[in-house]
Amino acid sequence: MELAHRTPWSLRSPRVVNIADLRQRAKRRLPRVVFNYVDGGADDEITLRENCRVFEDVAFRPRQAVATPGYDLRTQVLGSEVALPALLAPIGYLRLIHPGGELEAARAAGAAGTMFVQSTISGHALEKTRAASTGPVGYQLYLVGGRAASEAALERARQAGFSALFVTVDTPVAGFRERDFRGGMRELLGDRLAPKLRFLPQFFTRPRWVAGFLRDGGVPRLENVVRPGEGPMTLVDVVGALARSSITWDDFRWIRAAWPGPMVVKGVLTGDDARRAIDAGATAVAVSNHGGRQLDGAAAALRALPEVVAAVNGQAEVLIDGGIRRGSDIVKAICLGARAVLVGRAYVYGLAAGGHAGVARAIEILRADVERTLRLIGCPSIAALDASYVEAPAGWHRGSGAR
Ligand SMILES: Cc1cc2nc3c(=O)[nH]c(=O)nc-3n(C[C@H](O)[C@H](O)[C@H](O)COP(=O)(O)O)c2cc1C
Repeated sequence: MELAHRTPWSLRSPRVVNIADLRQRAKRRLPRVVFNYVDGGADDEITLRENCRVFEDVAFRPRQAVATPGYDLRTQVLGSEVALPALLAPIGYLRLIHPGGELEAARAAGAAGTMFVQSTISGHALEKTRAASTGPVGYQLYLVGGRAASEAALERARQAGFSALFVTVDTPVAGFRERDFRGGMRELLGDRLAPKLRFLPQFFTRPRWVAGFLRDGGVPRLENVVRPGEGPMTLVDVVGALARSSITWDDFRWIRAAWPGPMVVKGVLTGDDARRAIDAGATAVAVSNHGGRQLDGAAAALRALPEVVAAVNGQAEVLIDGGIRRGSDIVKAICLGARAVLVGRAYVYGLAAGGHAGVARAIEILRADVERTLRLIGCPSIAALDASYVEAPAGWHRGSGAR
């Protein structure tokens, strides 16, 4: 009830009943170039589409007429208890989508009792994000600034009270996102004014976004990537830097020394890599193809989950992201062995549509969906979900279902 009171009418039911509705709101709020940055994927976007579609291949096996005293959505993940098994995934350039960016998302996650994960490519200082949330906060690492800048960021995150580190391993180079290339994302982020004139028609029709962007001082700097003796890196620097900063398993030696707490290796799609991640000191792996933004043609994340769960064999937590748009998607992933999921675009559409309230609405939609799904399949809690509640295609690797 309290949430309904605080949610602006434009985001309430029946105007917004699902994540697809929030996506439409985001499309109306953002200039085309920024919307496509969020919405798009690599090359032909096969993996992007398949991430969502593959949930259709898994069918529920409900248990009817089961008496359950209540429904418990809590789960333990990365040393924290969360009220819902869905964390907010690291998303770069959030401050471009809404001036409050990471702060608004962290606040909404905290209020909902779950974790927000801040990307390296972020415009608000780590310390401010930590202060904005009443829940656990994670930090996602790219090596774009080099080792010294990364170690400095890890030390800041540790001091500020971040509770988990996510190291993304699927980005040896940025994927080729044709929508960004054609739409001029690079020109939007650059310092030169003349190439930005092409955006004027989009800007005229999106005055609210433009006003927020200008009030915020334009394209933000990367407050958390500070190379020794230099100021924060700029966003446009990052595109080139990504290509020179790919990570190898050897890097985990110094990363582990700099970060003794819970560590997730994000971007694993095979059982072999999951084992390597554990050998490198991971406490969790995140099965992920970066939301279809990196290697197009990579397996849909859900499809890769059972193989990873089997390879991990209970030695680490298994998280998954990619294509989560409904609470029933979350329940299916957990039945197939995930401890929890990360949601990406689902909450970013909310952020674009209405800042903190939009993120809160996205989380509430997913939470209500999860609870309804538990009721419909006759399962009292997230902890009690297992493979017996679903049927996956016969060709899928049979995971142990252990979590
Ligand atoms: C706009 C956008 C930016 C992203 N930036 C990052 C990032 O900076 N670091 C990272 O590890 N993953 C990044 N990701 C990937 C997400 O963390 C996550 O893996 C993906 O969004 C999950 O797929 P979904 O959007 O279908 O939920 C990004 C995804 C999107 C959509």
